Amino acid sequence: MRAAIFRRTGGPEVLEIADVPAPVPAPGEVLVRVHVTAVQQFDTAVRSGWMPTTAEVKLPIITGNEFSGVIAALGPDAMGFAVGDRVAGRHTFGSAAEFLAVPMVDIAVVPEKLSFAEAAYLGGSGQTGHMVVEWLGVTKGDVFLVHGGSGGVGSVAIQLAVAAGAKVVATGSAANQDYLRGLGATPIIYGEGLRQRIEAAAPEGVTVVLDCAGGESLDISIALGIDKGRIATIADERYKELGVQWPTGARNGARLANLLALAASGVVKANIRQVFPLDQIAEAHRIVEAGHGAGKVVVEIG
Ligand SMILES: NC(=O)c1ccc[n+]([C@@H]2O[C@H](COP(=O)([O-])OP(=O)(O)OC[C@H]3O[C@@H](n4cnc5c(N)ncnc54)[C@H](OP(=O)(O)O)[C@@H]3O)[C@@H](O)[C@H]2O)c1
Repeated sequence: MRAAIFRRTGGPEVLEIADVPAPVPAPGEVLVRVHVTAVQQFDTAVRSGWMPTTAEVKLPIITGNEFSGVIAALGPDAMGFAVGDRVAGRHTFGSAAEFLAVPMVDIAVVPEKLSFAEAAYLGGSGQTGHMVVEWLGVTKGDVFLVHGGSGGVGSVAIQLAVAAGAKVVATGSAANQDYLRGLGATPIIYGEGLRQRIEAAAPEGVTVVLDCAGGESLDISIALGIDKGRIATIADERYKELGVQWPTGARNGARLANLLALAASGVVKANIRQVFPLDQIAEAHRIVEAGHGAGKVVVEIG
């Protein structure tokens, strides 16, 4: 099968399209014919040589960890799904390929209304947004500050918090202010003067924070005097020394089914900002690595 692999770490140029053996589904797994994989900063960081604590990196590796496609075969004991089902999910590595073997507990059926691109986005970063909003217990009456709100995770977190009845203030570049407003947030621009803009946008006081940017965003959130139990970061490894939270929670088929249903009913929109063919996955990595843009960059496997 065709797959985007890297044999050594480095810039996007280390990615190559290779012919590799297709995986065979183990007991409890299904084989997915992948249609779309979405690209995350996790993918670009691992490709650059960063070692995640959550997964072993053994080269060569097939990149990609959020996907959608159609079930091509069932492994032994895989029940509850059928060949031909449209599914999505998240799996560490391997989804930028024609086929992916994945535990059935990690996938969910994609409602007809949603495209493969939307489903792939929700399968990974979308689930992270869902998980953190649940983990933080964002609810009606909260004033929720989201740093990096226009990104893959932030966009979903904003919409879920708005649906829960919270007021949301979200940061983004000047180019993404209208996008943030469209998600239901009060948009503000990050950078110099951020603290004053937060205080002006939320004079009643921020009650809960999701930091998807790190650095100054997190420092300013702490300086606002918010309960550190309600300040979470997914982007700043100083969280322990700073005494703030790093949310963890299952991202699996059950969570994804819930999120896909919310998307099918219009509560959450999954904005796809750019689509690349598999041959151009290096360009998709370049764009994601730059760290700016509204919504998600995806790659069609074809
Ligand atoms: N995706 C996941 O499931 C996941 C899981 C765990 C952790 N993370 C981490 O969480 C972070 C965000 O992930 P993502 O997938 O949402 O990223 P993304 O889609 O690449 O979006 C990055 C966002 O950061 C914003 N941004 C850039 N510079 C900023 C600054 N100085 N201050 C505030 N915002 C800034 C960008 O806004 P503009 O475009 O408006 O500049 C953009 O919306 C990354 O560090 C990622 O590694 C992601």
